Amino acid sequence: MTNPSLENNSANIAPSDAVLQTENVSVFYGSFEAVRKVNLNIPRNQVTAFIGPSGCGKSTLIRCFNRLNDLIPSARVEGKVLYRGTDLYDKQIDPVEVRRRIGMVFQKPNPFPKSIYENIAFGARVNEQKGNLDELVERSLEMPPSGKR
Ligand SMILES: Nc1ncnc2c1ncn2[C@@H]1O[C@H](COP(=O)(O)OP(=O)(O)OP(=O)(O)O)[C@@H](O)[C@H]1O
Ligand SMILES: [Mg+2]
Repeated sequence: MTNPSLENNSANIAPSDAVLQTENVSVFYGSFEAVRKVNLNIPRNQVTAFIGPSGCGKSTLIRCFNRLNDLIPSARVEGKVLYRGTDLYDKQIDPVEVRRRIGMVFQKPNPFPKSIYENIAFGARVNEQKGNLDELVERSLEMPPSGKR
C-alpha cells in the first residue's frame, strides 16, 4: 500500500488504545510487493475504514489481521501484526484460533458464490446432517465464549 496518508494517519493514536497494531507490514505475492511497510494503530471500539483505489492493497492488508494470507501459497507477510499486544504471527499462535476470533466479511460471500447462510450450511447439507439448519448456522456465526470453541 503506497498511499502515504494511510501510512501516517494513525500516528496520533496511543498504542495503548490500539486493538490492532501493524509494524512495518509488507505483503508480497511472489516478488510483487502489494503492501509496503504499513504502520498503523487501530483503536478499540471505533470503526476504522481503509479507502483507496482498487488494487492498492486494502484486502491484502485486512487479510493480515486474521492470517488469511497464509492460505495463499504465493503470499508472504513481513513485519508484525499485534492484536491486543500479541503478535498474531508468533510461532505459538494457532491461525485457526485467530480466524475464529477475528472475522472478516468479504465483498462477495465465499468460497461459494451463494449467500453467507448457504456457505455455512453447505457442509451440513452435503453430509445430509439432521437437525435444525437455522440453529446450526446461527451458532456457527456466534462468537465463542472466551477460551472455548
Ligand atoms: N492472490 C493474489 N495473487 C497475486 N496477486 C494478488 C493476489 N491478491 C491480490 N493481488 C494483487 O495485490 C494487489 C492488491 O490487491 P488487493 O485485492 O489487496 O487490493 P484492494 O485494495 O483490496 O482492491 P479492491 O478495492 O478492488 O478490493 C493488486 O495488485 C492485486 O492484483
Ligand atoms: Mg479488496
